Amino acid sequence: MSSLQPFLYDTLTLIHILSFAIWFGLVVASLIVIKVFEPKLTDPNIDAETYAGFLKSYIKGETKFIDIIFPLVIVSGILLAIFFTGWNNWVIIKIILVILQFAATMGFIFGVIRKISYPCDKRMYKNWYYLMGVSITFFSVTLIFVYFGR
Ligand code: HEM
Repeated sequence: MSSLQPFLYDTLTLIHILSFAIWFGLVVASLIVIKVFEPKLTDPNIDAETYAGFLKSYIKGETKFIDIIFPLVIVSGILLAIFFTGWNNWVIIKIILVILQFAATMGFIFGVIRKISYPCDKRMYKNWYYLMGVSITFFSVTLIFVYFGR
């Protein structure tokens, strides 16, 4: 095990950081997609149904990707804790932040986003930006804690 340890640590850390970076990147990309679709989905004179269909396909594809990436962040982090760092306060607080991020995001999607029908007014469409804001805020808090909370 001893000669494998540095390799295992580096591999798990690489998977951990790469998977969270892809997850963060997908959220930022979705923010751009939401911005591009706004004029199409908030104008009553445009065939919003077609554009709503495009948005739904995009979100479906993004969700499939995150369904693979998100568990990778969690499992690689847990394995790093089991084999290397142990369950210190830093790791426990990170787990709490991820659970809160997951609950806040899922709550907003099922409580607000899924109830939007198109075309909608700009005030209702703003909820998409609030959703992205929830994710980006949690990523920022977690990263600040990762690098300044140890
Ligand atoms: C269940 C959730 C998580 C667990 C159990 C976890 C656990 C860990 C552990 C044990 C390490 C290695 C620390 C070390 O080498 O001393 C680590 C590193 C890291 N984690 Fe996580 N993590 C989790 C979620 C996250 C999330 C959501 C992010 C980003 C938003 C993140 C970002 C990082 C970064 C950037 C590092 C590298 C830190 C460095 O190089 O010093 N982790 N994580």
